[in-house]
Amino acid sequence: MTRPVGVLVPAAGLGTRLGPGAPKALRELAGEPLLVHAVRGLRAAPSVGPVVVAAPAADVTQVQALLAPYDVVVVAGGAERTDSVRLALDALDPAVALVLVHDAARCLTPPALVEAVVACLREGADAVVPVLRVADTVKTVEGTTVVATADRSALRAVQTPQGFRRDVLARAHAAAAGSTTDDAGLVEALGVPVTTVPGDEEAFKVTRPIDLLLAEAVLAGRR
Ligand code: C5P
Repeated sequence: MTRPVGVLVPAAGLGTRLGPGAPKALRELAGEPLLVHAVRGLRAAPSVGPVVVAAPAADVTQVQALLAPYDVVVVAGGAERTDSVRLALDALDPAVALVLVHDAARCLTPPALVEAVVACLREGADAVVPVLRVADTVKTVEGTTVVATADRSALRAVQTPQGFRRDVLARAHAAAAGSTTDDAGLVEALGVPVTTVPGDEEAFKVTRPIDLLLAEAVLAGRR
């Protein structure tokens, strides 16, 4: 039997860019918290086994109640996303050898994308990231002055779920100096190759108020 894959869900961010209100993972989309949409999507992916959610420390009991139907472990997250990922990894069943890290804020991620990342891991990759080409040209700016323009054809925007051999992810986090929003970046810093798979537009991260409108539209399109 193929062994299940564990998923760590950092969901402890405050979501200040969404404006005032509840922590981001608890904001509602079509009457349910973003986190419920995210976990339901993970549970629809057949390879997903144990799930550990890092919730805002003040909301652990509420999140446990919300996610009771989905068989997940809830831990208190940390000050930075990196801390939340580490705390969730510590709570994951030690027997689980392949791990995904998935932002709760990418709450409409199609299960097929989860399975594509898992398939690449099972084929032997140490680390896997879903990527999309960038629509905008990207420039480096100092103050108000442009100092460089990147070659757009070589740029990719990175999504989650990102997939890892557990030992590689643990080593990357143990070696990490500061905080990061990208676990694959920590693996790159170890010199371990990171493999890409095609991302999915619907795995976008809810960050700003306009993303909630987009998410409502995506959900309406699915109904
Ligand atoms: O800040 P951003 O929206 O990029 O966060 C990405 C994900 O990391 C979100 O799902 C957020 O809840 C999570 N996060 C966390 N702990 C923090 C900060 C962010 O779990 N301290």
